[in-house]
Amino acid sequence: IRDWVGRSNWGGRWGWAVITSDWAAMPVVIYWTAGIALQLGGPDVSLGTIVAFVSLQQGLFRPAVSLLSTGVQIQTSLALFQRIFEYLDLPVDITEREDPVRLDHVKGEVRFEGVEFRYDDRGRPVLDGIDITVPAGSSLAVVGPTGAGKSTLGHLVPRLYDVTGGRVTLDGVDVRDLDFDTLARAVGVVSQETYLFHASVAENLRFAKPDATDAELEEAARAAQIHDHIAALPDGYDTVVGERGHRFSGGEKQRLAIARTILRDPPVLVLDEATSALDTRTEAAVQEAIDALSADRTTITIAHRLSTVRDADRIVVLDSGRLAEQGTHEELLERDGRYAALVRRDARLEPTK
Ligand SMILES: Nc1ncnc2c1ncn2[C@@H]1O[C@H](COP(=O)(O)OP(=O)(O)O)[C@@H](O)[C@H]1O
Ligand SMILES: [Mg+2]
Repeated sequence: IRDWVGRSNWGGRWGWAVITSDWAAMPVVIYWTAGIALQLGGPDVSLGTIVAFVSLQQGLFRPAVSLLSTGVQIQTSLALFQRIFEYLDLPVDITEREDPVRLDHVKGEVRFEGVEFRYDDRGRPVLDGIDITVPAGSSLAVVGPTGAGKSTLGHLVPRLYDVTGGRVTLDGVDVRDLDFDTLARAVGVVSQETYLFHASVAENLRFAKPDATDAELEEAARAAQIHDHIAALPDGYDTVVGERGHRFSGGEKQRLAIARTILRDPPVLVLDEATSALDTRTEAAVQEAIDALSADRTTITIAHRLSTVRDADRIVVLDSGRLAEQGTHEELLERDGRYAALVRRDARLEPTK
């Protein structure tokens, strides 16, 4: 990238520099030659004429410079455009198959069947031999060390990536066979990265459900623990979000994103360490919002802190892309394996819990 910016900046600037300095040196040359010519008693030119000539030449300089810099801008843009087109020309990995399956009512059973995934054809698989069934309406918690493949597992459900082996199914249908619309309506993702638009709070929420009434917006915002905050702003729901508008904090933006997901009402929810970047007090508020969101949905929670996973219907421990353990909180404590060790470590870190 640095290379490209460099090229785009240098593009055309060389010619620019040469011409500008020539032009700046011109009066000196003219006065000098004119001076010598006059002293030698050369052509009959008055000093006034020479001064007028130099001003004329300088007057021409300005428009010439604008023309030149336009040239430079065009070259800069071309260099960047070329880069953009390169991106647009990249092959799209995820495509909707011809004649895809459309589900009008998704119950929300998610199943990983012998899933293998690699980011790189030659590299080691990031996920290998993953078999998990998440019954509709139940909750699955995924725990494990950083780099174990938890986020990757979560990304396979909304088809941000396609499996390289095995399959992921939704209500028994391979997600690769579903039409994009079904998949988009069925799976909601809440992660640390929230995407809000430079538009009002209401518009940001309506993005999820264009025909939502004001009452519905408020209800979703209340469930997401953000209504009181929005209502206290001078412009309320008309407050503009973003750089030039009101700057919401990370936790507030996240609760707005959760309110949006509540409006969208997807039967399957993937929560990827949604609260791990927040301070304890904000985390409690966001967690409450997430609990409201998770009720009656299939929920796959990727959790950093174990305090949030103990109530899950099923817990899986992922390690280096493989399932190390799975069971309920009690079963896994009983087993006294990886999960039990993680719980002990957490208890040491957070003695109050
Ligand atoms: N976009 C990517 N391209 C290549 N490798 C990746 C990509 N995303 C993650 N990885 C690698 O895959 C492994 C699992 O990552 P991830 O699923 O993010 O783990 P976790 O969420 O458990 O911390 C890591 O080794 C990581 O470096
Ligand atoms: Mg992760």
